[in-house]
Amino acid sequence: MNSYGDKAVLAYSGGLDTSVMISWLREKYGLETVAVLVDAGRAQGLEELRQKALDIGAVEARVVDAREEFARDFVLPSLAANALYEEKYPLVSALSRPLISRILVEVAAETGARTVVHGCTAKGNDQVRFDLGIRALDPSLTILAPAREWGMTRAQALEYAAARGIPVPVGKESPYSIDENLWGRAVDCGPLEDPWQEPPEDAFAFTRSPAAAPDEAAYIELEFAAGRPVALDGGEKGTVELIAALDELAGTHGFGRVDMIENRLVGIKSREVYEAPAALTLVTAHRELEDLVLPRELAHFKRGLERKFADMAYNGGWFDPLMDALRAFMQETQQRVSGTVRLKLFKGSCTVVGRKSPHALYEEALATYGGGDEFSHQAAAGFCELWGLPLEVWARKGSHE
Ligand code: ARG
Repeated sequence: MNSYGDKAVLAYSGGLDTSVMISWLREKYGLETVAVLVDAGRAQGLEELRQKALDIGAVEARVVDAREEFARDFVLPSLAANALYEEKYPLVSALSRPLISRILVEVAAETGARTVVHGCTAKGNDQVRFDLGIRALDPSLTILAPAREWGMTRAQALEYAAARGIPVPVGKESPYSIDENLWGRAVDCGPLEDPWQEPPEDAFAFTRSPAAAPDEAAYIELEFAAGRPVALDGGEKGTVELIAALDELAGTHGFGRVDMIENRLVGIKSREVYEAPAALTLVTAHRELEDLVLPRELAHFKRGLERKFADMAYNGGWFDPLMDALRAFMQETQQRVSGTVRLKLFKGSCTVVGRKSPHALYEEALATYGGGDEFSHQAAAGFCELWGLPLEVWARKGSHE
């Protein structure tokens, strides 16, 4: 037996490429396929897709509802880190790839498969995330990425499928390449490849255009406990449920769209469009609450590490030991991040209008310019004198040059 074994675990999406792969793996490598459909949120028609994999010839097809796992192990740590790649992108796909990698590796262990297969092309970041994720979790597995090696165009893949009775998409095909999960939706390709062209309305699926949003603003309250969002408008909810409700609310008000030029790890710039109403609302609110409860030095230092966290996750390093350390740091900072943030959603904007916490470091008696001021005005002159001493000495010496 070669290093491929006789069975492959495939991250199956139900699309054309991963469907073709089931036949291709048998023809090219003599591998039987165990197809795995992972639901990280927003997945639809999974049972039909599972059946489709079997019809094409998979020896086994599994649906894994990983929504809770995704929320707990990937989304919440990412929120604790306020993670936005290049300050804009909430890592939608970058978070689901390590999750799917972990599930693939588990299924490989259970079924005795020695090969793990993903459908990514050579041009994107997702291949890196799968490759590194799988290797980090079980370096003995062989990884295949057929789309990286087969060199088929879309037309050739369609032809390949038709010749083998593999069902192909009917009707007008979407020009977009889309990936979606609980944390949001990523869209690229088609008309979006021209960075000068405004994204067409049909690129969006769950946000209204700000122009079509209600004329009346909506006020919402998000409650956090130790960094985790636990209630929306007073109603306690689990993370998955809360994100879904918030997506609906913020999306209706036209908030959550991102249109950006992004630096991919593989060296190219690409134009990316995202919809992530809940993710962006939560990061906005969570950051605000941190501003209220974290002491200055910690708050400033954390912001620097947040960037590193986002870069590491984006670049496929979710299982890197540095990420373990960063997650532990973020977790440690969240102990007092409890309280409520009030936000206003209005025609594409999401603005913080109020915040409160039992751990607030804001004290009106210290901050006020009105009566009841408890700030030590006497201490300020001496503080300034010593704080400015090095600068003063520097300035004095310079004047003698
Ligand atoms: N550019 C994003 C990332 O690297 C999104 C990729 C999503 N994939 C897709 N097929 N649209 O995370």
